[in-house]
Amino acid sequence: MPEPLYDTLGRTYSATRRADPRVGAQISQALAGSASVVNIGAGTGSYEPAQTIAAIEPSQTMIDQRPPGAAPVIRATAEHVPLRDNCADAALAVLTVHHWTDLAAGVAEMRRIARHQLVLLTWDAEVMGERFWLLSEYLPEARAADATLAVPVDRLVSLLGDPVITPVPVPHDCTDGFAAAYWRRPDAYLDPTVRAGMSLFTKAGVGVVEAGLIRLAADLRSGRWQHKHAELLELPELDLGYRLITARA
Ligand SMILES: C[S@@+](CC[C@H](N)C(=O)[O-])C[C@H]1O[C@@H](n2cnc3c(N)ncnc32)[C@H](O)[C@@H]1O
Repeated sequence: MPEPLYDTLGRTYSATRRADPRVGAQISQALAGSASVVNIGAGTGSYEPAQTIAAIEPSQTMIDQRPPGAAPVIRATAEHVPLRDNCADAALAVLTVHHWTDLAAGVAEMRRIARHQLVLLTWDAEVMGERFWLLSEYLPEARAADATLAVPVDRLVSLLGDPVITPVPVPHDCTDGFAAAYWRRPDAYLDPTVRAGMSLFTKAGVGVVEAGLIRLAADLRSGRWQHKHAELLELPELDLGYRLITARA
């Protein structure tokens, strides 16, 4: 297996990417009827429900950060899951499909190992690119990079049976530092540790990101950002394109 991206990207993962309870509640609700779950691209175990019988994760750095008592983990990829057919009620994949080298193979593996249901959390890059001020106003190159990094929702849905798509709004104080988590806390994007946990920032060139962040820092200092986005500061949550997809196995 080549060195997984998350062996470097994941070093600070458990510090900045703590499961958010409100996002977790939507995932738990989707899995409520499933007595056994396999978590694919499981990482450090965020959002892993208690009924998880196995976790699949390629990065040793991520595996090493799994808490004691987490479900047994197998070092493998979504494209080749070393588990037997129909071994669990459901297969779960949270914020991971965009890293898979062969999306169709990974989804086929999810369908093979799950008896009843697939649950996936991903994001719609078009919606995020339009609605998220960081991408539309400060980091247009990262917006373009995000459009290539993300899996188009149409493509994912075309591989699924009877998909149901539900928006997952981002709480203003989201504890999971994924790309749009800090939409109401703009200063966070100036912190390199926060950015280190976001694959978005690995895809856009360092120089263009720096230029955009320098502009953001200046706008925060002058109050221009706060003036322009005053209405955001009143909102408890915002739909920035994250989507929970449930489907038949
Ligand atoms: C953003 S993290 C999400 C981890 C976890 N699901 C969560 O919500 O915190 C993406 C994970 O996908 C894993 N990954 C990358 N390529 C993969 C592949 N081909 N198959 C399965 N997982 C993969 C990474 O190692 C990483 O742990």
